[in-house]
Amino acid sequence: MMHRTGLSQRWAAVFLFLSLLCSLFTPALMVKHENFKTCDQSGFCKRNRAYADSASAASSSWRSPYDLDSSSIIFKDGKLSGTIIKTVSTTGEKVRLPLTVNFLESGTARVVVDEEKRQKGDIVLRHESKAKKERYNEAEKWAIVGGLELSKGAAVVSSEAGYTNVKYGPQSSHEAVVRHSPFGIEFKRDGETQVQFNGRGLLNMEHWRAKVEKPEPKEGEEPPPEPEGEDESTWWDESFGGNTDSKPRGPESIGLDISFPGYEHVYGIPEHASSLSLKETRGGDGKYSDPYRLYNADVFEYELNSPMTLYGSIPFMQAHRKDSTVGVLWLNAAETWVDIVKNRHAVNQLSLGTVGAVDTETHWFSESGLLDVFVFLGPHSQNVVESYSALTGFTALPQSFAIAYHQCRWNYVTDTDVIDVDRRMDKHKIPYDVIWLDIEYTDGKKYFTWDPLTFTDPERMHKTLDKRERKLVAIIDPHIKNTPDYSIVDEMKSKDLAVHNKDGNIYEGWCWPGSSHWVDCFSPAAIKWWISLFKYSKFTGTFKNTFIWNDMNEPSVFNGPETTMPKDNLHFGNWEHRDVHNINGLTFHNATYEAMTHRNDDDKKEGPKRPFVLTRSFYSGSQRLGAMWTGDNEAKWDHLKASIPMILNQGISGFPFAGADVGGFFGNPSKELLTRWYQAGAFYPFFRGHAHIDTRRREPYMAGEPYTGIMTQALRLRYSLLPAWYTAFYEASTRGSPIIRPNFYVYPGDEKGFAIDDQFYLANTGLLAKPITEEGKESVDIYIADGESYFDYFDYTVHAGKPGRTATVSAPLERIPLLMQGGHIIPRRDRPRRSSGLMRYDPFTLVVVLGNDGSADGELYLDDGESFDYQEGAYIHRRFAFSNGILSSEDIAVAKGSKTEKYHKSMKDVRVEKIIVVNAPEAWKSKNEASVSEEKDGKSGKKGDATVTFVGKTGGKANWAVVRDPGVRIGNGWKIDFN
Ligand code: GLC
Repeated sequence: MMHRTGLSQRWAAVFLFLSLLCSLFTPALMVKHENFKTCDQSGFCKRNRAYADSASAASSSWRSPYDLDSSSIIFKDGKLSGTIIKTVSTTGEKVRLPLTVNFLESGTARVVVDEEKRQKGDIVLRHESKAKKERYNEAEKWAIVGGLELSKGAAVVSSEAGYTNVKYGPQSSHEAVVRHSPFGIEFKRDGETQVQFNGRGLLNMEHWRAKVEKPEPKEGEEPPPEPEGEDESTWWDESFGGNTDSKPRGPESIGLDISFPGYEHVYGIPEHASSLSLKETRGGDGKYSDPYRLYNADVFEYELNSPMTLYGSIPFMQAHRKDSTVGVLWLNAAETWVDIVKNRHAVNQLSLGTVGAVDTETHWFSESGLLDVFVFLGPHSQNVVESYSALTGFTALPQSFAIAYHQCRWNYVTDTDVIDVDRRMDKHKIPYDVIWLDIEYTDGKKYFTWDPLTFTDPERMHKTLDKRERKLVAIIDPHIKNTPDYSIVDEMKSKDLAVHNKDGNIYEGWCWPGSSHWVDCFSPAAIKWWISLFKYSKFTGTFKNTFIWNDMNEPSVFNGPETTMPKDNLHFGNWEHRDVHNINGLTFHNATYEAMTHRNDDDKKEGPKRPFVLTRSFYSGSQRLGAMWTGDNEAKWDHLKASIPMILNQGISGFPFAGADVGGFFGNPSKELLTRWYQAGAFYPFFRGHAHIDTRRREPYMAGEPYTGIMTQALRLRYSLLPAWYTAFYEASTRGSPIIRPNFYVYPGDEKGFAIDDQFYLANTGLLAKPITEEGKESVDIYIADGESYFDYFDYTVHAGKPGRTATVSAPLERIPLLMQGGHIIPRRDRPRRSSGLMRYDPFTLVVVLGNDGSADGELYLDDGESFDYQEGAYIHRRFAFSNGILSSEDIAVAKGSKTEKYHKSMKDVRVEKIIVVNAPEAWKSKNEASVSEEKDGKSGKKGDATVTFVGKTGGKANWAVVRDPGVRIGNGWKIDFN
């Protein structure tokens, strides 16, 4: 977010010299730590850590002061309720905390603790604040979309001696053991404890209390010493970086320890520039010193290998040990920190319940809101992410262009510049689908306008792009310029749709346009208004091929505390910003998504198209609305490397449509780095090149040969594999599955692979990639988890599998280390095209990679790639299988609907044009033909013979065979018999 400078050339030269001089002494880019709080500088973080410290110092004599009143417990229809009593040690006061534990039909449990006094509004706010008195209870409204049905089968199985045991879940294999005194819960699966709440006694709900005003010390007198006990210094107000937070409700944080006995690895809680397997945060000695922080922020020049917060938050964690994964969702929208400690101990063979030698102990705390935690008992990571997605929503199935390549920079400066880039991409035969406009296209950073000097003819620009079915994405940010001649800001003000400050007046701060106001997308009226702004008649110069990019929605406020809004700002319903901060980005993204859905409302003929909205800030549930990217990275090798664990982490956290700026946002990448980045980017679910305004142009054609050619090859690889990518997105949209998958997810029993985060599988295609992320590398070692054979994607070199071995794969600059695991069938479209839209009716290639047992299978999902017709059955879903010498295609579409037939008709001429069989049997040496049969009118009939060409193995490469034009249709059932 560097600002533009307008220096004269001479000054520019002097400036350049001075900055070169400076760069000799200071590192070029570095996060400004002083702008962001450490735990020590965040009152409630410090208090909760201190609480944990006093618990561990007191060790066995520590007793949690929270008790579940046994007489209050009621169990009915899958729901346990009761009252927890907190005894305040200093005063003896008893604080009533209503508890509910919901046992859901899905096998998930949900624990909610509220505070009776605040719930009833029986508190007094300071400073005559208008804020709501309750603890924030609407996170569910934004994050949860289903899966809350209570279990009919859940039942109390015993309730004696201070425990209430509830069995629930599939075949009653789950059990919650609720301990009354002190309150705590153990969650068991098949009799074994998997997750434990308050086992360490760190449950903490800062109850409401009135501020006791202390007399001001008289002049010349010393202030009285602070009383012993709790540190009250940040209870009533808190200052940081020149801003003071007025905290009208006083201290109100919540905290809980969640332990995973026997689990050595925990993953998730994005977004951090850290490893996939999360690190310990306490205990010194190479561990992080701060907890992982979740407080969405525009962190300028973010640092790597850090638990610092970034732009988005998903408070969902998975814990993994050999053959078991469990998880928790901490549904809270306020600032949150998570401490992680691993407790190593000798395995006691006799001890019941604990298998591993390591317990991971986590400690979560949020500044305000309810304690609301969901527990998922797996046993596979897929089960955990699927149950999580059933609650928070599945990835929206994107339009097919959205998973192709996006060309962006800050900025394409005129509409003719856009047309020129488009022309040059074509001239160099570089495929791309989308070109992007950053903030400079607007008239003075007024969104919904075009710069009258530089974007004079948006219509011509869109039409030119549309010739090759290309799209334009324009940026729209949530800060609305505070300026007199701007109808949008006038409307927003007159309708009172902006965020308010603590006094209830419109909030004003600084962002790209200078003085700005922020649309409050928590408000239904604001959403309605926002939807109206995207009508073609209102946002003139946009067309059906315009899509939207939402940035700065943390929200980023250049002059705000920690570059965001003051926590005592007020949103719709008078919820404080403090309560809702981490959801803010989602609400803006949601409003834009709604707007894009309704944009075609007036067009009765075509109907709505699937929206595409990119967001920088996100929360649990954002996956329903579009894609995310990892923000302002740098053109450096270590940033390329860091992008992979970050994207893998998004995938296992239910938001797989993720990417990083290809090439790096800040700075100029070397040609080698840029080339390697394109090769890695070809495996990002969201694939976009982007660059800062101060960087040199770097569209793939700029680099020259051999780089341009190599980048084009990487792009073509992406395009040819689009059928496999689209199928992976379909799976994500129905099962929540990650699109690129880490080793632990694919091989949950392979302990050696649990921390691997620099290589991954593409869905269940068997494609295993390890992008090069270091300069000058010519080969790379790929870790192999199983005994299958692997084959180089490009030349079929065989890498025999053996669990735990590494395969050395040659990777000169022009080569992406990419293996195919035996046993899979990969669908491709091999004809080079300029955009994915032009591939709609292209024929398919199937790559059949025979496994050790001579069989293989794979899948293909296909639809029109833009409308919602697939929801009415307009799609093709096939399973391909090769066994006993026969390759077959079987229909696995779950539902036929009113639009099935029409779609199938439109695809009736789309053929399989080529079948490549890698690792073909030796016996095929003498084979010339295979017999083809295809169904017609529901009956299978012989079609003829297809020619088979066999290529025998040489120099470490596998046998392979090719069948050209077997004449079968992609939407039909067919068999090709090689016997
Ligand atoms: C932010 C975004 C970046 C964008 C810039 C200008 O820094 O992260 O992608 O180019 O704003 O809009």
